[in-house]
Amino acid sequence: MSTVNTVGLCCVLCQKKAQIQDTLYVCPACGGNLSVQYDMDRIRRTWPRKDLDESRDFTHWRYAPLLPVRGRIDDPPVGWTPLVNAPKLAQELGLKRLSIKDDGKNPSASFKDRASSVALLRALDIGRDLVTGASTGNAASATAVLAAALGVKTRIFVPKTAPRAKIAQLLTFGAQVLAVDGTYDQAFDLCLEATRRFGWYNRNTGYNPYTREGKKTVSFEILEQLDWQVPDLVVVPVGDGNIISGVWKGFVEFQKLGFVDRTPRLLAVQAEGSAAIVKAAAGDGTIKAVDGNTVADSISVSLPRDGDAAVQAIRESDGFGITVSDDAILAAIGEVARGSGVFGEPAAVTSWAGLKAATARGLVKSEWHVVMLITGNGLKDVASAMKVAGEPTTIPADPAILDTLFAGR
Ligand SMILES: Cc1ncc(COP(=O)(O)O)c(C=O)c1O
Ligand SMILES: [Zn+2]
Repeated sequence: MSTVNTVGLCCVLCQKKAQIQDTLYVCPACGGNLSVQYDMDRIRRTWPRKDLDESRDFTHWRYAPLLPVRGRIDDPPVGWTPLVNAPKLAQELGLKRLSIKDDGKNPSASFKDRASSVALLRALDIGRDLVTGASTGNAASATAVLAAALGVKTRIFVPKTAPRAKIAQLLTFGAQVLAVDGTYDQAFDLCLEATRRFGWYNRNTGYNPYTREGKKTVSFEILEQLDWQVPDLVVVPVGDGNIISGVWKGFVEFQKLGFVDRTPRLLAVQAEGSAAIVKAAAGDGTIKAVDGNTVADSISVSLPRDGDAAVQAIRESDGFGITVSDDAILAAIGEVARGSGVFGEPAAVTSWAGLKAATARGLVKSEWHVVMLITGNGLKDVASAMKVAGEPTTIPADPAILDTLFAGR
């Protein structure tokens, strides 16, 4: 059991402080999302950077001093996913260096294991053994996989259109699955209502302040894996905006500890039909609901649930947002796969589509080192990959066909 260095919560909207309470999810004053605060002086005194350099713990629990929970999940191991060098893709865009953080290598095959692991441990810390959540699919499967390991019960709300692989994961790992005949946003609201009525512990993205805490560990890993060289730009696919706000919190916390002396810019990429955050960042900063229509199911969001913190992350990092078409997203699946060996689901490769578009518009400098998050494995949504992969050649089980096809070629 590690020491918990938290000191309270702070509203991302009105900045009012609140004390940590068992099930305080949002700001009592304004309803804004809350952000977990730590005793940074204490952490600075007790956790030198060399402890990380010497650590043999290759999971995201190596960052325990900056995590708000007492325990850890030893198996399956979460985090410390590969940072893959992608010289071919870098060359295609004329960039000095491009690295891919392949978070599809997490136990449930998506980035969401980072968040779910922390939220589940928080539930255990406050004596809860039943967790509910709404999800486009990945946050839910991450919760189901890790809850099975911890012996926690889960009741999960997903849009019934979620890709089959994600639903298969949920059922296989023993979640009670409520497939909502509606959108992700409707599933989210239904799940909040269930929490109000029955008091189940709620893991919903953004609404639960602990999800951001798990997500920030990706930035810690990027800095360590780059031997403390800070990249110039980090590209993030955005739906609710909780990943990008976590990514930013991670970079800022390591800078506050003096582990690095600067932070990267963030590039937020959204699908054209689901771009509430990019629009808000380019406009007056206010989040307005959109239709939430895109082939990239994981980022198909009408009203982003961590939109304010996401806009702050883009602006504070001196970053920017960009939108991409569904066609560009689908094409990116094969481009990333063939160019780097990493197979991403549509939402995940949205980062590549966005980086390409931003480069074409002259927004990315050729001397920059860019890191791109690939947030979910391509096997999560084979149907989308098949839309662009083409069909195999069907042949009779007859050796004569080989001559017909290949003789002389
Ligand atoms: C694969 C993948 N990429 C990106 C995202 C976007 O994360 P957020 O909703 O926190 O912006 C999600 C969220 O479900 C996801 O599953
Ligand atoms: Zn507030």
